[in-house]
Amino acid sequence: MSFYKIFFLSIFIILPIKVYPINSISKDINIINSGLELYKKKCSNCHGVNAQGKSNGFFLSPNLKVFQKGYINFINIIVNGYGRMPAWGGNVELTEEQINQLASYLASISSEEANWQ
Ligand code: HEC
Repeated sequence: MSFYKIFFLSIFIILPIKVYPINSISKDINIINSGLELYKKKCSNCHGVNAQGKSNGFFLSPNLKVFQKGYINFINIIVNGYGRMPAWGGNVELTEEQINQLASYLASISSEEANWQ
């Protein structure tokens, strides 16, 4: 096979993985505010009111302002749980829209070293 054939074939193989799911973090203030409301209800118990992390007696939950694992991993963590964190934070399932609102809110308060790409 020629180089070009391999090159074009690999574009078709790589593209779908790269393109979906789309990082849909929004800077829209309404979406961010919905995320804030959700965060207060569903996450602040464990991660603290300002997402700065919180000691729950036995352990310290992570500071979400410095989240560095990127958007796709954020979705994975929420949907599947992560270490001591239960899936959905122990809540009922969130919709894709709600997860995006949460991500948009957290990205909006994130520090410089955070990664939401
Ligand atoms: C029951 C307590 C609890 C709730 C509720 C909870 N979390 Fe967590 N979360 C944790 C703990 C504990 C960890 C650390 C897990 C570990 O390292 O073992 C964690 C880890 C995370 C991480 C990974 C942080 C990192 O940098 O690795 C993200 C992102 C996260 N939580 C987001 C959320 C969001 C968003 C919500 C609300 C929907 C939420 N969590 C609700 C306890 C909770």
